[in-house]
Amino acid sequence: MPQDTHSPPPETILVAVAWPYANNHLHMGHLAGSYLPADIYARYHRMRGNRVLMVSGSDSHGTPVTVRAEEEGTTPEAIFERYHQSFLDTFEGYGISFDLFTSTNTENHARVTQDIFLRLLEGGHLYEAEQELLYDPKVSRFLPDRYVEGTCPRCGFESARGDQCDSCGATLDAVDLINPRSRLSDATPERRVTSHFMLRLSAFTEQLRAWVEPKTYWRPHVRNFTLGMLREGLPDRAITRDLTWGVPIPLEGYESKRIYVWFEAVIGYLSASKEWAASPLNPNGDPEDWRLWWQAEDAKSVYFQGKDNIPFHTIIWPSILLAYGDLNLPYDVPANQYLTMSGAKASKSRGGVVWAPDALERFDPDPFRYYLAAAAPETSDSDFTWAEFVRRNNDELVARWGNLVNRVLTITRRNFEARVPQAPSTLSPESTALLERVDQAFASVGEAMEAVHLRRALGLAMEVATAANQYLDARAPWVHVKQNRDHAAETLFVALNVISGLASLLNPVLPFTSQRVWTLLAHPGEVQAAGWRRTPVAAGTELPEPTPLFKKLDDSVVEEEEARLTR
Ligand code: MF3
Ligand code: ZN
Repeated sequence: MPQDTHSPPPETILVAVAWPYANNHLHMGHLAGSYLPADIYARYHRMRGNRVLMVSGSDSHGTPVTVRAEEEGTTPEAIFERYHQSFLDTFEGYGISFDLFTSTNTENHARVTQDIFLRLLEGGHLYEAEQELLYDPKVSRFLPDRYVEGTCPRCGFESARGDQCDSCGATLDAVDLINPRSRLSDATPERRVTSHFMLRLSAFTEQLRAWVEPKTYWRPHVRNFTLGMLREGLPDRAITRDLTWGVPIPLEGYESKRIYVWFEAVIGYLSASKEWAASPLNPNGDPEDWRLWWQAEDAKSVYFQGKDNIPFHTIIWPSILLAYGDLNLPYDVPANQYLTMSGAKASKSRGGVVWAPDALERFDPDPFRYYLAAAAPETSDSDFTWAEFVRRNNDELVARWGNLVNRVLTITRRNFEARVPQAPSTLSPESTALLERVDQAFASVGEAMEAVHLRRALGLAMEVATAANQYLDARAPWVHVKQNRDHAAETLFVALNVISGLASLLNPVLPFTSQRVWTLLAHPGEVQAAGWRRTPVAAGTELPEPTPLFKKLDDSVVEEEEARLTR
């Protein structure tokens, strides 16, 4: 059957992005791991005309936030508010285009969480059980999750946290740590009996295996890690904690306990979708619109996150969804590996990181977006270095893309009265070939974007810029403007059209500078709204004076920034 490849029916895509703990600022590892890839993917799909809903929010609960509050002698609310605002500023600064970035500290989220809790309890997916948990006798408190550190029972890593091992990625129960240490005092933790609600995860092993097994399009490390966990067998897990900061248990007699942060944070994807639908942000105004992304059979939900979050998105959240019923399971979970800082995992707690808000005080956002996308840790860890940042900025953004735009616009303005020249009615073969190449790139770059091979998508787009530079060098319009104006007119007309295509192709990665190119080409409106295609540049169009898109960075930047890292 013939198919119109130019306008396939719109798709419905939920871009679900990991909820950052509101206990510190974001750093480059967060941007590279989840926010930037999610944003590139969302921008691409919006350009395709697909129905995108991109949501996340601050993970405001749990011990990461309460531990920080205790360290600072303040309240968890104060910590949450400070970092929630920081996240919003960071996303605005780097152009991370959420439809809604909310938090788990909302009434709506508590309501949605409690509804799920009660439905699971009624369905027999939750049960109450007595457990022996760690207790600090000196401060008279139970020690959930991050209040304890110790040796990982699985891999022997000595600073594993009570909720998860940073070394092997295993999700842990604090009681299983070897040599546990309290973070609240120097007392040796003892075991005490307390009662908690357990999620009957074990019952979902077979259903999950049948769901994950055929997902051969998932990244191999995500699928293998998940299948490995399923092979080991899933223990039931406590989903409540002895804490007073978090979503309350909707039953009487449990006032000193809260729902476990990981059980409710993943529910955020659903509660945020409901919040968006019922808010003025929803242009249709129908509060039931969340169903489009959660219940329509062909809707796709794609979950962006770092690899330490894999089990929560491929095991726990799908189990909750299966237990609740009538909600779509994840379509893909393109978890990234780590961005390291010369070897050390870019983890908020370990120092030596590049803080996202800080970096924007000295540099523009697009060079970071470019570098983090070009070196994205999609299949293995990748290392952030300032030397590589400077090199890519200078060699690739300035020399390859920025200079292409600048050269073509400048020659056109100087020699053709600032108007797009008229090309002859028949173009030379190399001109036709280059225009075809940029037009075909919309298919190949688009295919890579859809497979979430964002590095490859960017690489393919940049190859078109290389081809455009070769074309320009070979046809040397700066020489021909003198003796052979038609030849130069054709070159500049074609180059301007290729630049127009490149502005669109690069827009998901470089939204700030693509919009500037758009304006320099005298295109009206926004590049983001122009669709996933080359917008033609018409002969006769008057072009404004160009200004450089990117700043060349001096090598001294490397030393200056490295010195900041160790401070
Ligand atoms: N707050 C967690 C972290 O920073 C991530 C939560 S993602 C969600 O590691 F799945 F819970 F939403
Ligand atoms: Zn471990």
